[in-house]
Amino acid sequence: MFSWKYYDPSFEYEKKFQDVFWPWAGHKRFAYDLIRNSKPQKIVELGTHKGTSFFSFCQAIKDLGTNTELNAVDTWTGDQHSGFYDDSVYYAVKDIQKSYFSKINIKLHRKKFDDTLTSFKDDSIDLLHIDGLHTYSAVKHDFDSWYKKVNKKGIILFHDTNVKTGDFGVYRLWQELKDNVKIEFYHSNGLGILFKDQEQAENMRSFQKHWQQYYASLYENNILKNRLIEKNKENNKISFQLNQKNKELERIHNSLLWKIIWATKNPKRLIQKKIFSSRN
Ligand SMILES: C[S@@+](CC[C@H](N)C(=O)[O-])C[C@H]1O[C@@H](n2cnc3c(N)ncnc32)[C@H](O)[C@@H]1O
Repeated sequence: MFSWKYYDPSFEYEKKFQDVFWPWAGHKRFAYDLIRNSKPQKIVELGTHKGTSFFSFCQAIKDLGTNTELNAVDTWTGDQHSGFYDDSVYYAVKDIQKSYFSKINIKLHRKKFDDTLTSFKDDSIDLLHIDGLHTYSAVKHDFDSWYKKVNKKGIILFHDTNVKTGDFGVYRLWQELKDNVKIEFYHSNGLGILFKDQEQAENMRSFQKHWQQYYASLYENNILKNRLIEKNKENNKISFQLNQKNKELERIHNSLLWKIIWATKNPKRLIQKKIFSSRN
């Protein structure tokens, strides 16, 4: 790097997984641009769940056309922050992989982070995303054990740097890291970007203010666009129901009108019919 190009991607997997309102969704455009611009050879994600972050990385690599190795590590059973879930989540991830990313170099490691460490050599990872359990001790443990696996020009992403409630503690670890090697987005729960290389960090930091506005605005825009789509869908549903009700009313009205006309034209038969039906 550095010149930075801005892209306007289409995330194909959204056809199967609509993740606009998921906590990570606000960082998809930045992550996509980061990968297109930095062209990593090896990516590792700790914590994939349904794949919002991972499939954004996959889309960037697919569009980039490199043979980058994309590793997703997760037990796919959940944790106390994301909730515990069943096997359907893992199978949905595999299904998206097969549908949209079958030709790129993806490895799904259904294991604990610690049990996967030995699969990666020191200094081998270009982009590491840490997004497992968000307590201070868990994220510190993940950071301490995986830091050496990232190469000297490598980048580490942390999600949830801006969540300060409950026992979330990513922000505490984030505060402990040196200011001159990191930048942060505050929207979408916060995304921290840590650079191992000082010069690269300085280049990126010069973009920080502009990026914070640009990527947050893109996200808010997308949220509003999707809220409007939801509202329109709801309005269409109500219009349809109203239409049906109007038709029903018209039918009732018409049959009532028909009865009145029939009764006024045949008063004797109406009385006979009533007497007859009351005897039975
Ligand atoms: C916050 S979610 C990941 C969110 C995801 N990056 C996204 O974009 O939506 C955390 C995931 O990490 C997994 N996880 C947490 N701790 C783990 C560990 N020690 N080993 C393996 N997986 C873990 C959970 O199963 C869960 O699916």
